[in-house]
Amino acid sequence: MSFPDNFVWGCAAASYQIEGSTQDAKLSGESVWDMCCKKEGFVKGGDTGYVACDHYNRYQTDVEIMKSLSLQAYRLSIMWPRVLPEGTGKVNAAGMDFYERLVDSLLEAGIDPWVTLFHWDYPVALFNKGGWLNSDSSDWFADYVKLVVEKLSDRVTHWFTLNEPACFIGLGHQTGNHAPGLQLADREVNRAWHNALLAHGKAVKTIREFSKKPARIGAAPCFLTSVPATESQRDIEAARQYLFKIRDNSMFNASWWLEPVLSGKYPEDGLALFGENGPPIREGDMDIISQEIDFIGCNIYHSVTVKEDESGQPEVVSYPNDYPRTHFNWPVTPEALRWSSKFLYERYNKPIVITENGLSVNDWVAVDGEVHDPQRIDFLTRYISGVKEAIKQGVDIRGYFQWSIMDNFEWAEGFSQRFGLVHVDYNSQKRTIKDSGFWYKNLIESKGSILEATNPLQHWPSDAGA
Ligand code: FCB
Repeated sequence: MSFPDNFVWGCAAASYQIEGSTQDAKLSGESVWDMCCKKEGFVKGGDTGYVACDHYNRYQTDVEIMKSLSLQAYRLSIMWPRVLPEGTGKVNAAGMDFYERLVDSLLEAGIDPWVTLFHWDYPVALFNKGGWLNSDSSDWFADYVKLVVEKLSDRVTHWFTLNEPACFIGLGHQTGNHAPGLQLADREVNRAWHNALLAHGKAVKTIREFSKKPARIGAAPCFLTSVPATESQRDIEAARQYLFKIRDNSMFNASWWLEPVLSGKYPEDGLALFGENGPPIREGDMDIISQEIDFIGCNIYHSVTVKEDESGQPEVVSYPNDYPRTHFNWPVTPEALRWSSKFLYERYNKPIVITENGLSVNDWVAVDGEVHDPQRIDFLTRYISGVKEAIKQGVDIRGYFQWSIMDNFEWAEGFSQRFGLVHVDYNSQKRTIKDSGFWYKNLIESKGSILEATNPLQHWPSDAGA
């Protein structure tokens, strides 16, 4: 069996991580990441996203690279304060024009742009008014979405509302290690969370109302995923339960996002856990939040492994010291995509798109001028084989977006984590396609059938035709 003919093969990246936030003669407004990059110790090594991959000026070269790798789709995001420097009101025409040019170049290259409306670069001007804690915040977002949709929806048909609320609220407002760097109590965290959910719902409504072409809409959440320790029914059930239950006050509990969006209610166990510190739900809110979406996006990198313990409860199995890990120290759990997509599909019966998956490797340019990254080829082979297995078992997975097309600014980790299929030398801005990039091209062109190869590593780079 190979992948369905209409399966979409793509790569993803995000505005702040590649564009360079100051590469437009400062016409853009600042985002909370610009603000936090100025704080000593916030980002590893004092790195910033001010220049990043200079994609703002080099997007044409980057689109040519994407074309050379046969990408069918590219998931990009829009930097909100680039188009609306104050977050609302006056438009920066040059900023909007950049996204129009980017979308046009992609389409000319035969690559479908899938647009994420918010990938964490929140306008400082709105943060100063309370940001996600302000009860107007979902309307601010909807106004911004309307502007973008009016400009781009004659060419863009696939939209994501918010990228990973668990990160921008959980890491940004609860643990504080992501921008805006707040450490709030549960009550405030849930207020921000609820406003983000409302923003998602209002964005879906806005896209449906103003899109010039029929739109396909999803979100790209992330959450703690689980795989069963064995294929026994008991371990599978334990992993399923672990995935959907609210375990603690973390925003990484899958149901805290999925249930409001897909079932129109917060999960009971979570409401019980938070008690009076739960989200401030007003009449009508849940209807706004649970607007019909077309697919569930999933950003998945790794999972915990779960078995059933002696009392019949899910128990997390710890990984031994010698367990394979990426440069980020994330465990390599190839079954993650297979089981997560299966559990989600069984429960919500919605098409699934893998909106992010990949790994960081400490890659460098070798003496032969190329970048050899067999671990990435191996990792992707294993994880994407899980997608294939899930499809074989009847899970409706529509596409796969590798993170990321190029090395980039990895938030609080700065430039220390390289996730790209393309290596970026941040001093010279030279791009070098890694072996895994050529492998991915082969994978796309073969519609996934090179996964069958006994040795996937043989598919780079000489037979890639690049
Ligand atoms: C995800 C983010 C993305 C990138 C990857 C590695 O959580 O959405 O921007 O940083 O992790």
